[in-house]
Amino acid sequence: RILILDFGSQYTQLIARKVRESHVYCEIHPFNMPLGEIKKFCPKGIIFSGGPASVYQEGAPLVDPGVYELGVPILGICYGMQMMGYQLGGEVSEAEEREYGPAYIEVDEPGALLEGIESEKSSEGIRVWMSHGDRILKLPPGFRVLAHSQNSPFAAMADLDRNYFGVQFHPEVAHTPCGRIVLDNFLFRICKCEPSWTMQSFAEMVIKGIRDQVGDDRVICALSGGVDSSVVAVLLHRAIGRQLYCIFVNNGLLRKGEAEEVRRVFADHFDINLVYVDASEEFLSRLKGVTDPEQKRKIIGNLFIEIFEREARKITGVKYLAQGTLYPDVIESVSFKGPSATIKTHHNVGGLPDRMSLQLIEPLRELFKDEVRSLGRQLGLPERIIMRHPFPGPGLAIRIIGEVTAEKLSILREADAIVMEEMEASGWYDKVWQAFAVLLPVRSVGVMGDERTYEQVIALRVVESVDAMTADWARLPYDLLARLSNRIINEVKGVNRVVFDISSKPPSTIEWE
Ligand code: XMP
Repeated sequence: RILILDFGSQYTQLIARKVRESHVYCEIHPFNMPLGEIKKFCPKGIIFSGGPASVYQEGAPLVDPGVYELGVPILGICYGMQMMGYQLGGEVSEAEEREYGPAYIEVDEPGALLEGIESEKSSEGIRVWMSHGDRILKLPPGFRVLAHSQNSPFAAMADLDRNYFGVQFHPEVAHTPCGRIVLDNFLFRICKCEPSWTMQSFAEMVIKGIRDQVGDDRVICALSGGVDSSVVAVLLHRAIGRQLYCIFVNNGLLRKGEAEEVRRVFADHFDINLVYVDASEEFLSRLKGVTDPEQKRKIIGNLFIEIFEREARKITGVKYLAQGTLYPDVIESVSFKGPSATIKTHHNVGGLPDRMSLQLIEPLRELFKDEVRSLGRQLGLPERIIMRHPFPGPGLAIRIIGEVTAEKLSILREADAIVMEEMEASGWYDKVWQAFAVLLPVRSVGVMGDERTYEQVIALRVVESVDAMTADWARLPYDLLARLSNRIINEVKGVNRVVFDISSKPPSTIEWE
C-alpha cells in the first residue's frame, strides 16, 4: 500500500483516486504523521502532495526527516518536490515567472518514472499541468534532472540510487495526459506494487474485519434507503447476518413508495433484521405551526435521534453502531493559516455513539462515493438504490415552504413522484445530480375547463453537480419540461401552475430551505 502525505493541496484526493484506479490501496494522512505511525503503516511507497506553502516560509509544513531513512521510494509532487529538495540539501526559491496552467516538458532522462511518456508527445512537447510560484534552484546532492520545461529547469528530478523522485507538475490532474503513466511507473516499476486492490478484495477484507471485531455482539444501524446506509447495511449483514439490526424511521417526510421499497429490499429480499418504525404522526405533530427552516431541521433531527435511541434501547446486547461515513468526510484536511493543522470533523461522527456509549463501525471510511456504488453493486444491491439521488435527512419538510401539513405533503409527494417517473423514463435521471419538486406557499389564478381556479404552485428543481458544493440548473429539453408541467397540473389536485428553477449554486442553494 501507498501512503500519501497531505500538505494541503486541493488535488490530494485526486492522487488517492488515481492510485486506487490503478488497483493499489492507499491512504491520505496529514504531513505531520509521526514517524512511528508511518513505519507501522508499512508503505511500499510514499507520495508527498502539493500544497500552498513555500518551504522557506516560517512554519512551513515539513515532513519528519526520518522518512528519508526508511528506504521507501518517495514521489514528491510540486510543493512535495520542493520540500524534498530543501530537506535533502538543495536550494528552493521563488520562481521569476510563476507557472500556472499548461506547460510542455522535454525528457532529459526517463529514469523509470518518465518511461513511456514520450507517447504523449506533440510538436510542442509533453503537456503537463503546472501550478507553482517556487521552484528548485539547485538540485540536492545525488539528484539528477529527468525533465525540464521552459520555466522549470528541473521539472522532474530523481535520486535513482535511493528511489527519490520529484515532479514540479501535477501528474494527478486530468490536464496532465501522461500523468497516469507517471503514477503507474511510480507504483509498479519503482515501488513494485501489485495491482490487486479490487472492490471484491476490499469487501472480503472488510467483512472479515467486521466479523473479527464484532464476535457475538450485536450491531445497530440507521437505514435511510440512501446509497451509503444501504451499502453499510448489506455489508454488515454479509458479515454478521442476524446480529445486525437496522432501524428505519419513517418520518412521514419520505418520497412516495420509499418506505415500502426499503422494507421490500432489505427485509424481504436481503432478510435483514429490520426494525420499521412509523413515526409519521409524531413528526407531523411536532412540526405543526413551524415555518422557520432551521427550526424545522432541528425538530426533525432531534426527534430522529430520540426515536432511534428509544428503538435501539429495546434491542439488548448492542455494542456497536454502524455508520456510512465516507472518505471525504474523514480526511483530516490540512490548512496553513496558522502553525497547527485544523481538522475537519463531520456531522455524522458526533453525537449518537457517545450518548449511547456505543462503539462505531464505519466500513466505508476509506471509500469515495463512486467506490461505495461499486461496492454496492458487488453486494447485489439493486441499481435503483445504487444510483439514487441524494435526499436530505429532513426530507420533504424542507421542500414545503412554510408550515408542513399532511395535505401539503400529499400534494408534494404526488408531484415529486411524477418528476421521478419522467426523469427516469426520459433517461435524464442518471444525468443529473438531483431532481425534485418544491411546494410553494403561493396561490395563483388559473382556469380549468370553464372554472376559475386559485391553487398552489410547484417549482421544479433539477441540478447538475459533482459534489453539491456548486451546482447549475440542468438544461432539460423543453418537451420533457412540458410533459412534467402537463402531468403535474392534470394529475395533482390542488396545483395549477408549475415553474422551473433556473438558479445556480452559489448564490442559491440546491434545496429551497
Ligand atoms: P444545499 O441546499 O445546501 O444542499 O445546496 C446541498 C446538498 O445537501 C443536501 N442536503 C442535506 N442532506 N441533510 C442531508 O442529509 C440535510 O439536512 C440536508 N440539507 C441539504 C441537498 O439535498 C444537496 O444534495
